[in-house]
Amino acid sequence: MHRPGGPHRSRLPVILPELVSTAGIMAMIADTGTRPGSAADLVLSGIVTGVWCLFVAGYALQIWSAPEAPELHGVSAWRARRDYMLSASGWIDLLAALALPAGWLTGLPGRDAQLLAIVWALKYIRRTSGLTLLLRVMKRALPSLASVVTVFFVILLMAATLSYVFEREAQPGAFSSIPQALWWAIVTLSTTGYGDMVPATIAGRLLGAVVMVSGIVIFALWAGIIANAFAEELQRRHFLKTWDLVADVPFFQDLGAAAIADIVRLLHARHVHAGTVVIREGESGDSMYFIVSGEATAMLAPEPVKLKSGAFFGEMALLFGTPRSTTVVITKPSVLLVLDVADFRVLAGKRPELVNVIEAEGQRRRDANAALRRD
Ligand code: CMP
Repeated sequence: MHRPGGPHRSRLPVILPELVSTAGIMAMIADTGTRPGSAADLVLSGIVTGVWCLFVAGYALQIWSAPEAPELHGVSAWRARRDYMLSASGWIDLLAALALPAGWLTGLPGRDAQLLAIVWALKYIRRTSGLTLLLRVMKRALPSLASVVTVFFVILLMAATLSYVFEREAQPGAFSSIPQALWWAIVTLSTTGYGDMVPATIAGRLLGAVVMVSGIVIFALWAGIIANAFAEELQRRHFLKTWDLVADVPFFQDLGAAAIADIVRLLHARHVHAGTVVIREGESGDSMYFIVSGEATAMLAPEPVKLKSGAFFGEMALLFGTPRSTTVVITKPSVLLVLDVADFRVLAGKRPELVNVIEAEGQRRRDANAALRRD
């Protein structure tokens, strides 16, 4: 049996639940535009019911085959089944299977019961890999967002109360109570402005102007906080990923945590295929590379030099300001840590002992190449 996600698995079975959900949701949506009892209604309702049957069967199969999941190797079959049923995926599959029966049991008429098929859209959530990132971002931004929401509600209540005071005599129908004025306040503060309620007094219009500008400021703040939290979260992910890679390079292994943290900020990881030319002889150089895993070859004559994991290359152009001394090709799929020239200077300032080691090796290579050329 193929393992889910195994190398030979085609993409189609993986996205099948989403394709089936799409067919079911489309049929449900289209069915709301047909005449009850018409041929189109019967066909579309048939598709919705068919999709529901597939989801019920799919849920039963998922429970049955849960112990086959490769990551659950060694876990008892019942525990694997229970874990699946309690997972987010399990809950979504259960909701999908219960959608239509829930409608029938609550006594909704047939076509209305079908509307619950909209929960099948939850199946898409599993596909969106960025969702966990989004949740983390929202969690990170929550305290700041909460302050903005508080300010929003304070302005909303004040705007509703003031507009009621200013407008109740001029427009007793539209602004007859604060709850009614709240509708105007939210439409104005959110800068939506339906135009169904418009202040007529000068004070009311001035208030409207202030509320609109406050709305723009609040949403700008809101967007700024979320964007900032996104940037911080991405930086955090980059930091953690790069940390593991840096810790794997023997060159950095003797450093303490503080020094590694400094260096991690300067490096970025690059996954490179075999056959990629990372450096071309004669070009100017703007970065050097540390090999975390894989292999690179400096194409020196007469004998190319293999550079294994832990080695670095591309330092000579940075150290001596010369063009690249030779071409360097990746000969095995590799993970490299890239250090740009500007960050190389920062490293030289912060960690001169490291740059001294790089410099010594660069000098040794330069001398060796010069000796070879002389021979
Ligand atoms: P750079 O000149 O910037 O670009 C080519 C790189 O190949 C060079 O830096 C070194 O990192 C590497 N290189 C050059 N000569 C040798 C050598 N003799 N042994 C190992 N690596 C070398």
